[in-house]
Amino acid sequence: MLSELNFTTTLHSTVILSFTVISNPEPQPSDYVWKKCDVEESIGHLQCFSLVDEGHLNVSIVDLTSNLTISDFIQHDIGRYVLTVQNGVGDAWNQTFLVVIKGIQYVSSIFS
Ligand SMILES: *[C@@H]1O[C@H](CO)[C@@H](O)[C@H](O)[C@H]1NC(C)=O
Ligand SMILES: *[C@@H]1O[C@H](CO)[C@@H](O)[C@H](O)[C@H]1NC(C)=O
Ligand SMILES: *[C@@H]1O[C@H](CO)[C@@H](O)[C@H](O)[C@H]1NC(C)=O
Repeated sequence: MLSELNFTTTLHSTVILSFTVISNPEPQPSDYVWKKCDVEESIGHLQCFSLVDEGHLNVSIVDLTSNLTISDFIQHDIGRYVLTVQNGVGDAWNQTFLVVIKGIQYVSSIFS
């Protein structure tokens, strides 16, 4: 697993999470899955759900790069984003991005 990438942003700015894979065979666009993973306090572990390209989220894939663009970043968007890429051979890649807002505390007790 690749290390977690940390981003600090400010409220209402645009955040672009970008990842380029080096892969042969090349993944298809449907092989890139962006997820948001939050700690569910009631169950005490990380819950991930797939993000869809709508609202203030935009997913783009060009060649081997995928961007997740979050426009008008709000407090609710704070947290952990995981891009999973597979190419049908071997394990999927999982790249984690942790996005926080400057000055707002984010508690991530499960992974820290
Ligand atoms: C996402 O961004 C791409 C490229 O900028 C654009 O063509 C597309 O319409 C956008 N999708 C949404 C849902 O905004
Ligand atoms: C990702 O964002 C960067 C920075 O804005 C841009 O240069 C690049 O073209 C984008 N790539 C994709 C796949 O949208
Ligand atoms: C990435 O995550 C998927 C499912 O969450 C898992 O099956 C896979 O083994 C992980 N890949 C690596 C390299 O850890």
